[in-house]
Amino acid sequence: MQSFQPFTLSEHNTLGVPASCPQYFEPANLEEFKLAYAACQGNFYLLGEGSNTLFVDTDTPAIIRPRFLGKSTRDLGDYVLLTVSCGENWHQLVTYCVANGYYGIENLALIPGSVGAAPVQNIGAYGVELSDVVHAVSWFDFAQQKVIELEHSDCQFSYRESIFKNTLQSKGVITQVTFKLSKTFTAKLSYNGLNFEQDNVTAADVMQRVIEIRESKLPDPSKLPNAGSFFKNPIVEQAQYQALIAKYPHMPSYKMNDNTYKLAAGWLIEKAGLKGFRLDGVGVHEKQALVLINYDGMAGNKIVELATIVMNKVDDSFNILLEPEVRFVNHLGLTSMSECQ
Ligand code: EPU
Repeated sequence: MQSFQPFTLSEHNTLGVPASCPQYFEPANLEEFKLAYAACQGNFYLLGEGSNTLFVDTDTPAIIRPRFLGKSTRDLGDYVLLTVSCGENWHQLVTYCVANGYYGIENLALIPGSVGAAPVQNIGAYGVELSDVVHAVSWFDFAQQKVIELEHSDCQFSYRESIFKNTLQSKGVITQVTFKLSKTFTAKLSYNGLNFEQDNVTAADVMQRVIEIRESKLPDPSKLPNAGSFFKNPIVEQAQYQALIAKYPHMPSYKMNDNTYKLAAGWLIEKAGLKGFRLDGVGVHEKQALVLINYDGMAGNKIVELATIVMNKVDDSFNILLEPEVRFVNHLGLTSMSECQ
């Protein structure tokens, strides 16, 4: 196991926020994880690849970054059950699946992050959500000190939500994810930009197109430090939706199953006049207003200040309170945005 003390985290969060932790562990397996857990007496933050985390303070608690690697498959005829360890890189998994003829996650190409972090916020893009393909999740429960198998229905997946962000938050760690993937490719092309002229579209074509769309809209964190969508797309009741659509007939929206409507936070932020807005060394991205950029390596509290301005302006303009998608971590551990304002 790699372990360091103290350790600087600037290169371990895609927002490029300067922060450091008193102890940093990279356990390669569960036995090493248990040693790290004991060494920091259960007082730590679990980090994946740092692509959805905002370090609010310049100090953090101890950090454990699980580096469990490996994959195994079980053939089910038309399907394959692919079990992947939590420390594997998400995009590498997508390319591996496309190359091996395991289909279902090609639309989720180029999402930054680790496999273990993916179920926590039920990553989703271009018409597919992780929950569409999760079969089971292996969970090391801290209180019981043993691995529990959670089935799909136990995970309580919904839009950018899961049991891991709610009841199970900070109570364990995802060690493996098992995906149920098809051996027959069915293209999922419901997203607007995924229109192909040719028939016989392959999974590699879809993956390639998704990569092109992402590269054109979303800034590369190694050039413009960011954490992807900073906020969730808000879901509003029918009455509020109707009032808004009457005023803004071209407003993008997506009807949910229960008569509520998902709106595009990026559109709301742009309409509120904040696309490209800069505050000292941070700002709202010029091409996709849902992404906040840390242009000058500013500390986390500057990003909190910017996010607060965005939330207040959208609230004033539309009476909608945006909710961050990014996870906020202060010197004590996981926290909420309101605790940081
Ligand atoms: N829009 C604007 N202005 C903007 C940004 C968007 O008007 O500045 C409009 C677009 O024109 C479009 C609508 O808003 O009509 C939706 O935009 P887009 O398709 O870019 O997707 P999104 O809703 O902004 C979500 C996910 C992304 C994911 C894309 C594609 C959330 C919070 N974000 O963004 O996920 O890649 O859909 O499926 O659900 C992420 O979570 O980090 C992420 C990038």
